[in-house]
Amino acid sequence: MTRDSARNIFVGGTLVVSVIFLVMTYLSHASYPERTHPENLTEEVVWGKHVWEKHACINCHTLLGEGAYYAPELGNVIARRGVEGTRFILETSAKQGWGQTRKMPQFDLSEKDITGLVEFFIWMGNVDTNNWPPNIEG
Ligand code: HEC
Repeated sequence: MTRDSARNIFVGGTLVVSVIFLVMTYLSHASYPERTHPENLTEEVVWGKHVWEKHACINCHTLLGEGAYYAPELGNVIARRGVEGTRFILETSAKQGWGQTRKMPQFDLSEKDITGLVEFFIWMGNVDTNNWPPNIEG
């Protein structure tokens, strides 16, 4: 192989891969509205996200696989526990913490905080992630 053909393969390959990368990036971004339903971001959902960040829930939990692995994934908590079950856990933890051996701290969550968190989890659960992360209970 000559020096010129090696350079051409390098430059051509880089260009082709860059174009593929840019097209795939564009296609991913274009699909976000359909996958995340931004029209469902109500004030309650936004408040829930605020509470989530204020208490750094991600220091123990994961959301869609991102975060810490001490406590359960919560992107699908509504599918696993239901709205009432999730609300019950948050109400209990607001008073006394939650769990038996690995405990979740008590956060003094108000009624508004709990409603926001539940709405935030409902919104999260409707994000189309191609079923990622694949954690199904039981
Ligand atoms: C210090 C670590 C820690 C932090 C911070 C934390 N949690 Fe937890 N959480 C836990 C543990 C541990 C469990 C599981 C307890 C058990 O099931 O015995 C849990 C369980 C839960 C559950 C029930 C999950 C399930 O699948 O049963 C919910 C909902 C939850 N946490 C919400 C939150 C929210 C909201 C925050 C932030 C306000 C938060 N957690 C912050 C440790 C934490």
